[in-house]
Amino acid sequence: MDTIEKYKEYVNTAFVKSVEPIVVTSATGSKITGEDGKVYTDLYAGISVVNAGHRNPEVIAAAKAQMDKLVHCCSYVYHVPAVADLAEKLAEVTPGRLQKSFFGSGGAEANEGAMRMAKQFTKKSEFIALQGSFHGRSLATLSITGNKDRKKGGGPYLTGIAFHPAAYCYRCPYAKEYPACDLYCAKQLEKTIQYCTSGNVAAFIAETIMGEGGIIMPPKEYYKEIKKVLDKYEILLFLDEVQCGFGRSGKLFSIEHYDVEPDIMTMAKGIADGFPLSAFIARPEIADSFRPGDHLSTFGGNPVSCAAALANINYFQREKLPEQAARKGAKVLGELRELQKNQPLIGDVRGAGLMIGIELVTDKAKTPATAEAGKVRAAMREKGFLIGVGGTFGNVLRWQPPLVISSEELSAAVAALAACLKAL
Ligand SMILES: Cc1ncc(COP(=O)(O)O)c(C=O)c1O
Repeated sequence: MDTIEKYKEYVNTAFVKSVEPIVVTSATGSKITGEDGKVYTDLYAGISVVNAGHRNPEVIAAAKAQMDKLVHCCSYVYHVPAVADLAEKLAEVTPGRLQKSFFGSGGAEANEGAMRMAKQFTKKSEFIALQGSFHGRSLATLSITGNKDRKKGGGPYLTGIAFHPAAYCYRCPYAKEYPACDLYCAKQLEKTIQYCTSGNVAAFIAETIMGEGGIIMPPKEYYKEIKKVLDKYEILLFLDEVQCGFGRSGKLFSIEHYDVEPDIMTMAKGIADGFPLSAFIARPEIADSFRPGDHLSTFGGNPVSCAAALANINYFQREKLPEQAARKGAKVLGELRELQKNQPLIGDVRGAGLMIGIELVTDKAKTPATAEAGKVRAAMREKGFLIGVGGTFGNVLRWQPPLVISSEELSAAVAALAACLKAL
């Protein structure tokens, strides 16, 4: 039996709609090598995870050194050096007064734990989330996910969740245009609180920049407007930076684009360059609402993952990876917008840094080009580029490569995309 047959027989591949028909044997930097020896340029980074590149040598060295000392101990003892050092580092690099971290293994776990903490701190039980959002696949995180495809088959979901329209400017839910809209969608949050909740709202939860929903980046004044409403009703601002954090959008954390301080922030994916780790961080008075014994994760704060994360963040800072992402992203966004001028299938090119969405449409009425997006993904693979596809309608090409990718590789990807679209 070859690998693909074995997967079909023994692995529950419910996790993705269509697995790329390649068998990966190794990866370095921005390149992935298949079993047949074919080398691919990775424009997806394991869904925005290996931001410092596949097998970053400094991250691997730190993990190996930690493995020679301690691999697991759990959190009923203190252990050295990684966990406390990483928590201190996160307090230093995250915005505002965020200070105390709780470590888990994945993004959903971080979001679910943070929801629990928000409830405990506020003594309130409801949440407001955004339409089109994705926060994970546990029951609570699917409950705050605003995407029917992701939710199907998992209900009934938690009650006490209201969904507010997202700042999806290309398809504005209020049929307005930025900036003339004057941030109407943010101001309308007050109406959602008044009409769709019982007023007992613990937190407003948002991906600072939406990933799975199709790379949706709100305008620059958005979170300030949101915060005004939240402050009026004493609701926490809970940001999910699982996908958009760690340099992805050209800042270490995407909320830095908005000059607003979150009350709670969650992270995973890019935190340890591929080692499983997640965290939620909050101001001490919020974090301390968890009393000893209130919350635990067996694998959370695994010393090897924490050592990898620390080396990863040090690498980010020294190599200025967020700045690299901003620079390379601005260039490739410009190239994609040039392509858009002559390519009617491209309805919108958006994002920041190396978090890029290319929304495909079949006509001026913006009919989603879902089938075409799937074909482009396959054609790009044939040309040696792995990309993602997402969005509520499955028509957004997602480019979220390792941030160490070169501008030449990105320009080659634009040329390949131009050829694929032309062939369609
Ligand atoms: C914004 C966001 N939050 C949470 C998650 C869930 O993370 P995990 O798959 O590690 O549980 C994801 C995963 O794609 C995500 O993109």
